[in-house]
Amino acid sequence: MSRFDEEIDRYGTHSVKWDMMERIYGVPAQDGGAKDGLAMWVADMDFRPPTCVQSALQSMLDHGVYGYYGDDQSYREAIQWWMQTRHNWTIDPKSIFTTHGLVNGVAICLETYTAPGDGVVLFTPVYHAFARTIRAAGREVVECQLTQGEAGYEMDFDAYDAQMTGKETMVILCSPHNPGGRVWTKEELQGVADFARRHDLILVSDEIHHDLTMPGHTHLPMPLVDESIQDRLVMLTAPSKTFNIAGAHCGNVIIADETLRARFAARMMGLGMSANSFGLFMTEAAYSPEGAAWVDELVPYLDVNRKLFDAGVNAIPGLKSMVMQSTYLAWVDFSGTGMTREEFTNRVQNEARIAANHGPTFGTGGDSFLRFNFATPRARIIEATERLQAAFGDLQ
Ligand SMILES: Cc1ncc(COP(=O)(O)O)c(C=O)c1O
Repeated sequence: MSRFDEEIDRYGTHSVKWDMMERIYGVPAQDGGAKDGLAMWVADMDFRPPTCVQSALQSMLDHGVYGYYGDDQSYREAIQWWMQTRHNWTIDPKSIFTTHGLVNGVAICLETYTAPGDGVVLFTPVYHAFARTIRAAGREVVECQLTQGEAGYEMDFDAYDAQMTGKETMVILCSPHNPGGRVWTKEELQGVADFARRHDLILVSDEIHHDLTMPGHTHLPMPLVDESIQDRLVMLTAPSKTFNIAGAHCGNVIIADETLRARFAARMMGLGMSANSFGLFMTEAAYSPEGAAWVDELVPYLDVNRKLFDAGVNAIPGLKSMVMQSTYLAWVDFSGTGMTREEFTNRVQNEARIAANHGPTFGTGGDSFLRFNFATPRARIIEATERLQAAFGDLQ
């Protein structure tokens, strides 16, 4: 039995995933009684973080005084160590900023490097909070649609070049890609860097899923693809997806270029931002040899879940789960069923009693999809695929 097999009841713990699923999707969560909904939506895992993270929190609790945090050298060194040992990426500890998670990091990038009315390019479908944040900031979303090839989503830069109007000032890349799971190749990443340069765009590379690549795939941090892109590059990383500590809201914005860095620092100062000590303690503890060993146990577990889920779903005629190269999010296309979006969504939510993210929220190209989170004990994956097979049993 794996440590990840433990079914931890999260109902009634202010978990957005379990305690909001009825309100958002009409799927009542498991409550120990007759209700038996399965939460497979928002990207957090149903697992505890490694012991090193729990112990760091415990020592804070034992000490029991929660004043302002100071002297962040060991925290910065832990991040530097992680990027070097896990991603072969050398960073300067001075280049690290700490934000309240990465959606906050994106928001500050928009405020720092773009002006109201500017166009911000997204390769869609993509993580939904990007578009929401861009629009809320009064900037315009410019959707460059991904195409579908053998390996999943692909980019078509000729088409994107033709779309540019000159008012675009930023492009946000999701690497690895959520929801498609692509680990972009060196050539594709070079294509993005060249595209940013051709159109004079700041390139924000959100690499939050970088640790969760499936066996056989290697993530390439953008600076390793093209060192000369650093003068327009902002890197986003976080321990939150990797270690399941998203509630700590700790994200890292890493900027090598001194001019870009000074602008970002000024904006953070203007917003009066400083980090939360709980997030800093957890991050430092996670980015350690013990944290690394835990990730090395987690990824193979997720890989088996992915294979089981894909096999179960792909056995249903008309359903197609995109080949996942990374993340714990399966992107399932229902277009082959010939059903309307309302009908397949209704079957998933009301017959299979599963809450999954709706495709259209990810932008153009997502209409016929639902996104399922498989970072949950394996027994639930088996249960989910059985319920889906029953809900679409008439297609067999
Ligand atoms: C690509 C991407 N960026 C950012 C986030 C969220 O980051 P945070 O919780 O740190 O705001 C997610 C969450 O799923 C994500 O997939």
